[in-house]
Amino acid sequence: MRSPSLLLILLQLCCLQTLLVSIPTCKLPGKWVETTVHLLHDLGEHFPVRCYPINSQVRFPDSALSDASASQCRWTLLVVYQFLQRAEVMFAEYDLPEGEGGVTWNNQKLEHYLNLQYRLVDEHPCLNTTRASGVLSPYFRNLTSVVEQQDSAPCGWEALRRDLHWVLKSSLRQHRKCFK
Ligand SMILES: *[C@@H]1O[C@H](CO)[C@@H](O)[C@H](O)[C@H]1NC(C)=O
Ligand SMILES: *[C@@H]1O[C@H](CO)[C@@H](O)[C@H](O)[C@H]1NC(C)=O
Repeated sequence: MRSPSLLLILLQLCCLQTLLVSIPTCKLPGKWVETTVHLLHDLGEHFPVRCYPINSQVRFPDSALSDASASQCRWTLLVVYQFLQRAEVMFAEYDLPEGEGGVTWNNQKLEHYLNLQYRLVDEHPCLNTTRASGVLSPYFRNLTSVVEQQDSAPCGWEALRRDLHWVLKSSLRQHRKCFK
């Protein structure tokens, strides 16, 4: 018969592992995020000149990516995660304006992007923190009001694409080691 202490050790190993797995580590796969950056870039043309006026209302603050008081990796991943999560909510709640004057994104790339976005958000759960929400909420509040108006909606979507691309790309460039 095996010694009960071995069983005990095995039991402890098992449970310790379960415990570690259940702690939200916010680990996003860098390879997927990289692909997402390329897809966002390739979705369509550069941010249109006719949308420049919207910058006074929708512009993600550069400073949001650095936060001296938190662990840089944790903060970066949180902002990336919550940005993707809120983008997902935007895509779920509002229709992309199509046709005359609408956004002209490549459908196939958009589908690929949305699929990756879903997998990044839903397969890599990460706890919301109120501090990260506090940084993102004013931006998404402004963005939502722009997207809700028919004449400004296309520019709102272009701004979301531009800013999400920037957040993901900068995070990868500056903090590649934070990603899985
Ligand atoms: C995080 O916050 C977003 C936006 O407020 C919300 O939609 C989402 O359900 C929250 N997720 C979790 C895991 O609490
Ligand atoms: C939201 O819009 C107001 C003006 O309408 C602007 O002053 C503010 O800076 C904007 N906030 C963000 C985060 O874009």
